[in-house]
Amino acid sequence: MSVEQLPRTIWWEDTSVHMIDQTRLPLQGDILVCSTYEGVIVAIKTLAVRGAPAIGAAGALGVALWSATEGMDFESAGDDYLAAAMTVCDELADARPTAVNLSREVNRLRAVLAECVQSSMNPETIRDLLIAEAHKVMEEDEAANRALGDFGAALFDGPTKFLTHCNAGSLATTFYGTALGVIYSAHLQDKVEHVWVDETRPVNQGGRLTAWELLFAGVPSQLICDNMAAFVMGEGLVDAVVVGADRICANGDTANKIGTYGLAILAKEHGIPFYIAAPSTTFDLELAEGKQIEIEVRDQKEIEGITVSGTFDATTPEISAAFDKMTAQGPAELPLSKGHHMSIARKGGGFSFDGWFKNTPTHVSCFNPAFDVTPAKYIKGYITERGVITAEEIPHTMK
Ligand code: MRU
Repeated sequence: MSVEQLPRTIWWEDTSVHMIDQTRLPLQGDILVCSTYEGVIVAIKTLAVRGAPAIGAAGALGVALWSATEGMDFESAGDDYLAAAMTVCDELADARPTAVNLSREVNRLRAVLAECVQSSMNPETIRDLLIAEAHKVMEEDEAANRALGDFGAALFDGPTKFLTHCNAGSLATTFYGTALGVIYSAHLQDKVEHVWVDETRPVNQGGRLTAWELLFAGVPSQLICDNMAAFVMGEGLVDAVVVGADRICANGDTANKIGTYGLAILAKEHGIPFYIAAPSTTFDLELAEGKQIEIEVRDQKEIEGITVSGTFDATTPEISAAFDKMTAQGPAELPLSKGHHMSIARKGGGFSFDGWFKNTPTHVSCFNPAFDVTPAKYIKGYITERGVITAEEIPHTMK
């Protein structure tokens, strides 16, 4: 297997937005089909699609989807059409706050929309232009990731031991990935000795997604819990840390998955270079410094318990009949106690289950910030499709 055989993250098909459901990976490779823009919003909020460039693409496709569905109910693209379209853009852009790619790509489509309406185009023409623009967003993202991957790989001379956090892989982008893009390019050049994959609590994007991608692509790697990073660094087992980003300010302060800031401090203490890999679309020159970044705080259920999903086949006709009966009216909730949940649904010839199991005390209170901000002083370089730059070079390189 190679990186080129990884599945696409998100695509347009039959007037719908299709995506790999990342909440169910790696145990299930379900494809989620959104036929309304509201469905795309739910997919973004629930992390079915996640990662800064991927949610940017989802936002763009969401606008295109509205134009191809509800937008077609308008006889002409007048004031009403524009007002409705702008509300849709606002809703999509606000689905998650921290990654700048989402609002950036929605605003890119918003600008096309406004220009089309001003030029008195009809809803059909606008739809075609928006679909084309959303595809351009995706093509440009993939091209940027491949380019930054090669710039990043050139930083390393020989066999290198990497550590990465969260999933800044192909799944977090339209294809190829950012931090993992660097690692994939380095692997193709025989420069990857090992990759340490942080599990990335609470949602385990590292354990579920990065570990899966690297195994799929044949890159030598091992999964560690987040609290093991200092140990492997102290043992001399890490040569470089490469992570992605959700928003990079003009001064280089960088928001990324919670835990990144701690890793950057650990890397500095151990004299290990710490790199951010991100396309130009993740830079936000409107924000001078990290304190201005809005940090998403998510549901405490992500910390309070664990989510599992999977499939099973009924092994005897009796079991099959029992589950058939239970799911005859749709997904069935099992009567579990202690706050656990489990629902069973029909899937193909068998059944699927979605469970959430509480493994913390009843009434526990949790704080669940999804991102943190790493100050620029800890970041050796920003690996972008325009080259590897320092914090000081951001304002003029990303203009
Ligand atoms: O909450 P998520 O999974 O969307 O967070 C994703 C990250 O923090 C990634 O590291 C970041 O978006 C970079 S993706 C190329």
